[in-house]
Formats: sequence, C-alpha cells, structure tokens
Amino acid sequence: MNILVTGGAGFIGSHTCVALVEAGLNPIIVDNFSNANRSVLQGLNRILGKTPVCYEVDCNNLEQMEHILQKEAIDGVIHFAAYKAVGESVAEPIKYYENNIGSLITVLKAMEKTGVEKLVFSSSCTVYGQPDVVPVTEDTPRKPAESPYGNTKAICEDVLRDLVQSGASLQAVSLRYFNPIGAHSSAEIGELPIGVPANLIPFVTQSAAGLRPPVTIFGSDYNTPDGTCIRDYIHVMDLAEAHVKALAFLQNHSKTIYETVNVGTGKGSSVLEVLETFRATVTPMLQFVWGNRRAGDVEATFASVEKVETCLGWRAKRPLEEALQDAWRWQLRLS
Ligand code: WQD
Repeated sequence: MNILVTGGAGFIGSHTCVALVEAGLNPIIVDNFSNANRSVLQGLNRILGKTPVCYEVDCNNLEQMEHILQKEAIDGVIHFAAYKAVGESVAEPIKYYENNIGSLITVLKAMEKTGVEKLVFSSSCTVYGQPDVVPVTEDTPRKPAESPYGNTKAICEDVLRDLVQSGASLQAVSLRYFNPIGAHSSAEIGELPIGVPANLIPFVTQSAAGLRPPVTIFGSDYNTPDGTCIRDYIHVMDLAEAHVKALAFLQNHSKTIYETVNVGTGKGSSVLEVLETFRATVTPMLQFVWGNRRAGDVEATFASVEKVETCLGWRAKRPLEEALQDAWRWQLRLS
C-alpha cells in the first residue's frame, strides 16, 4: 500500500515512515520543510536502506496534491502537516488557522478528486483542555482550546466528522496524541526543535548536554502528589506504530466511518518524576531549579487506552526510561 505522509519529514512523521516500512507499507512524503530539516531524509535512508519518495510541496497547493495522489497511486493518507507551536499560535492566529485548517481541507479535496478514501489525522489531547477526570476517555467533553493551535485541532476534527456525516466516501480516524518523546533507537532521526525548546524533553536533553541552563520546573504547587504537572509521555516509535494500526483499522472498514482515538501510555508521570528518572537512568548531570507556573499549562492529563486497545489493537510497549535514553542518544548525536 502507498501511504501519503504529509509532514513526513517532521518529528512524528519521520518516525511513522519507519514504522510504515517495517509493516511492509510504502510511505510517500510531502513536506514543505517549513519546520523540518532535509537531513531527516538521510537519516531515514540510514535506517531503512532506502530514501522514501519525497515531494517538497505545500499541502495547501491543491493542484500539486491532486497530481501526487494520482501519480503515486495513493491508498491512504496520514496528515501530520501543521504548525504546532502553542505560543506562536497565540501571537499569529491567522497563520495557524489558514495553514492548519486550510491544508486539511486541501488534502480532503485532493482525496475526493482522486478517489482516495482513507485518512489518519494527527490530532492532540489539547482538545480536552484541563480534563475534570483522568484518565481521559474519548467521550470526555472537549473544552474551549487554550490556544489557536489547539483550536485548529478541534476544528479539523469537526471538519472530518461533518464530512463523514455528509455521506462522503471517507473513512477517517483522528488520533489524539498525548506527549510524544524520545527518538528512534538508532539515533538517526529524532526531534529537531528550532531555537529554545518549549517542550520538556528536548530542553532536558539540551540542558544535560550543557547547551542550556538547568531545567526550570514550571510550578510546584499543583494539586498533584508532588506538586508538579502530570502528563502521558509516549515513545514516538510507539506513537508511530499506532498510525500503522489506524490504517489497518480503516482498511477493515469500507463504509464511511469516523473515530477519535486517544494515543497514550495510559500512565501519568509528573515533571519531577521525569527529571528524577532521567537523572537515575540516563545521566546525573541533569540539574533543575524550581520556577513559577507556565500560563496555559493543564495540571494533569493522561489517556484512557481502553479504546485504542480494543479499536486498533495497539498498546504502548516502550517504558519512559527507554524514551529518555533514546532522546539522550539522539542529543549526543546532535551535539
Ligand atoms: C510538559 C510539562 C510543563 C518545559 C505541548 C502541547 C501539546 C503537544 C505536546 C502538540 C508541562 C513542563 C516544560 C520546561 C517544565 N504538542 N515543563 N519545564 O505543554 O504538555 O504539550 O506539547 O500536539 O499540544 O501543548 O508539553 O513538553 O511543553 O510540557 O516544567 O522547561 O513539562 O509545564 O507541565 P505540553 P511540554
């Protein structure tokens, strides 16, 4: 099967290309490289022994997307391509609404024009905001997004839901990611944050490598066992493999279907637990200091994995320690 992977040179997209090839599928990358490095393609070649076909194209270009879907005889699409910096989305909402929603609509139009019916959409647990109850199930009500970025994810889910309900020939699933971390065990691909990392783990590895000051823990007075925020940190390769399972699920449904599925480990880890685990299992060189809360952070969220296990037949395999060690190995490769 030929699978179009938009944003396939990005962090989750590139790891998903590895998982697709390992499952005997053929990824075709579309990426405008606005937030990805071309070196990722060499890394994929070193892992896979071949470089996936890659089109340097913007997903908002309908004519080019139709051409690619037709020419590559695409069987299904995984749509990662989107801007994802929460803070930037607050400063530049139009850029986020235009690109994140526009690119999905363009991909859907191109799919309709070329008879491609299967879509896996990259969504996010951010649609839940601060859940009232954890673990979070897919029936947990979505809350008003904390950022334009989060709102684009919710709006894109609604576009898919309404399109399927309209009777369109579409089988789609939105995967609501929790916190993807780590890197491929080969250290040939990994996360490439631009500038100062906003996310915890890339900051941790850069700090432990001496490239950043000590990690600041954003808040120690939350209503959690150790006062720090709780998240569901999932190894990026586990997340990648969930996409393969999602495609298989859609393969078994020829009729119209739309599902939303949480993809997490089902386990919550606090910031302090993550840092202490890193010090204990990766390197004691990591230093951290206590700081104030970060605006917009939710106190605690982690996934119920009941639906992903029953619906997709998937569960996370890699423990937190392995994700931290893989992230560190990738950092050492970069340094
Ligand atoms: C995790 C925890 C911070 C940095 C974001 C997006 C979400 C998804 C994943 C795309 C929080 C704490 C962090 C630091 C810290 N992205 N932290 N010191 O905010 O849960 O989710 O990335 O889909 O949509 O919102 O991830 O890694 O930024 O933060 O204490 O230097 O680590 O306060 O509690 P987050 P994160």
